[in-house]
Parts: sequence; structure tokens; C-alpha cells
Amino acid sequence: MNAAQFEVPTFDYNEVLDPTSEANLRCIKALLYHGGAMIEGCEDAGEEALHRLADGAFGGLQKDPTRDIANWKIVKKEGATSVSYDHLKRLNQHTDSSIPPHGLPALALLMHYAEGSGTNTFTDGFAVARQLKLEDPEGYALLAKYGYDAERDFVASRVDSPQLYNRGLIVSTQQPLLQLDDTGALTRVQYNEVFRTPLTLPFDVFPKWYAAFDRFVELLHSPEYEKKVPMQKGKFFLMNNWRVLHGRAGGVASSDRVLVGGTITRESIYSQARRLLRERRSGGYADVSQEEELSIRRNARGAEVKVFA
Ligand SMILES: [Fe+2]
Repeated sequence: MNAAQFEVPTFDYNEVLDPTSEANLRCIKALLYHGGAMIEGCEDAGEEALHRLADGAFGGLQKDPTRDIANWKIVKKEGATSVSYDHLKRLNQHTDSSIPPHGLPALALLMHYAEGSGTNTFTDGFAVARQLKLEDPEGYALLAKYGYDAERDFVASRVDSPQLYNRGLIVSTQQPLLQLDDTGALTRVQYNEVFRTPLTLPFDVFPKWYAAFDRFVELLHSPEYEKKVPMQKGKFFLMNNWRVLHGRAGGVASSDRVLVGGTITRESIYSQARRLLRERRSGGYADVSQEEELSIRRNARGAEVKVFA
């Protein structure tokens, strides 16, 4: 199945908003199994609706240390120097928190159209990594072994933002684009070209690493793997930011487009899912023994889907 054939699981805003509902649990399952979910039916689109959903249904947004409020806001700006705020330009596929202000990228990204319309692009990074591994196993291994150099000035990179920033933060990283666990399984993709800086790879590694990197980026933006999703006022897209890369199609956003969103930690998402699963166990929450707790943890380690077994 190519990306165009994939139907994004879709949920109702008011149903997901209830943190005790089946819809809420199914939405989180869709996030973790399929990589993303659409949430529709919000009638009062805007920052308040974003917070209502994030706080009520998913454990709350992660606050960026450089501003007072947790969500970001993207509004069209004439003469923007940052591609994020130039709404008609193509924005290439990336993960958010690629340079994490807290040390670890957030697991989930929630974006919401507060006004206007546009088209977002999504790519399953795990599917692309699988393809690269088939074509070039050595290159895949190099992308997983050697980090790429990157740096973000959290204030300068948001010079076009309508939001206020209360302090500076400049972070440098050298994380691998593909991150594997101890068994060799891919657990996270972490990449944003906007913040990449000159590479400091060993001289003999560079040609093979760069060839694999070039192919990975090409696949990310190929019609086979990139899915275009029309978005408009009221819609939300919740995605697994460790797996799905996102961007914006060029030339289609309305001039009144206002996009708001934020990130959610792995702990918040898993806490909500596990609470709902425990409530649905025979005997309820109190039935979980300490031995079972450890067993659940062992089974879940390294295999996200086993949480739901
Ligand atoms: Fe982004």
C-alpha cells in the first residue's frame, strides 16, 4: 500500500474529549499503531479548543521553556525569513522537537487549524527506513550509528512568530537520524533539515553516510511515501512524532490560515492509555498486582504495540 491509499483514522472531537471514552482509547491506539489520527467536529476552533483537547484527553501539552504558554502559533507573515511563517512555500518533511529543549523529543504532536485552510504532508518514517534498509543496508546502519550536527537558537528561529519569548535558549545536538534500541529495532526518527549544520563525520564515512541520507530524504518526499492531507478550520491532526514526519504542501494555504499546536510527552500519552486499559480490566485498577505490573513493563519494553496486547 502506498501513502495515498492509506486512510487516516478519524475521530469525533467531542467523543475523544471525554478521557474515559472508548473513542479516546481508540484514538491513542491509532496514534501508536498507524502513526496518526484526524480529529474533526470541533465547533469553536482556536487555542482554547486546542488546550481543552490536549489537557482533557491526552495529559496536556509540554511547555517550551522559552515562552509562557505551551502551544505554538503560526500566522502568515509578509516577508517572513523563516519558511514556517511563509504560508505559501513548501515546508519539507521533518519531526518536531528535532532539537529538543528538554533533552528528549516529544512523542506526540498535535496540530490544529484555528482559521483558514491548507494542505499538510505526512510520511511514515519507519516505512521509508525499511525501504532504505532494503536498498542500502550499510547506509542504513551508518545513519543509525553516526549523528548529524544540528543547532537551534529558539528565539532567532522564531523571529516571525506572533508570540512573545521570555528567554533565550541555544541547543546543539549530534543525534543519529535513525535511532535503534538494544535489539536493533528502529524506535525513533529525529530529523529537521532547517537546523542541520556542517557535518563533522569521519572523512572516510562521509560519502556513504551522505548517499544514504540523500536517498532517505528523497524517499521522504516521494509520491509513494508522502501523503497529502487537506486541512481546514476546526480539524486536528495528532501524530506520532517519533515515526511520522510532517510538512506543508506549497501554494495552497489560505491567507488567513492560523495553525496552533504543541507537543505531548510519551509519559502523558502512555499514562492515559494505561489508565483506560486498567479501568477496563476485570477487577479494575486495584486488580493489578506488583508482579503483573513488572510483567506488563517487560512485555512493553521495546515494542510499543504490546502495551495493547
Ligand atoms: Fe513542524
